[in-house]
Amino acid sequence: MVVKKGAVTQVSKKLLDRLNDAVAREMQVAVQYMWQHVQWGGVKGFAVKSELQSIAVQEMKHAEAIAERLYYLGGIPTTKPTPIFVGANLKEMIKQDIKDESGAITLYKEIIEIAKKEGDVTTAFLFKGILQQEEDHHDTFTTLAEEL
Ligand SMILES: [Fe+2]
Ligand SMILES: [Fe+2]
Repeated sequence: MVVKKGAVTQVSKKLLDRLNDAVAREMQVAVQYMWQHVQWGGVKGFAVKSELQSIAVQEMKHAEAIAERLYYLGGIPTTKPTPIFVGANLKEMIKQDIKDESGAITLYKEIIEIAKKEGDVTTAFLFKGILQQEEDHHDTFTTLAEEL
């Protein structure tokens, strides 16, 4: 167990590590979607550019919220994103984005389970809200994939 002075809730190193995985992933997709927003082209791209930009901003807010929680619990948030993949065309981009959203959904369900087991209700609550948005993103990207 990690002990932080002043923090009422104390959690395991395992949970702190998962939270840092989440921070790294959120930073990755924030940049990834923003650069995809910049590089989307053609008529199809025109219709979804602003959607990608708004999702990118949501991911940055996730990164910040998760990092704040991690720091409160005694962890140090990583500054390294997981590898960013922009893609050379719309199909490549969306294929990767669907993969990243399903990865986030799997990880966040795991975090909710661990947090609940450790009595960290606040982290579980935080990730329930984020999970809902990741499911929306996943839905958006799978719908876009059908149009390509
Ligand atoms: Fe996110
Ligand atoms: Fe997302």
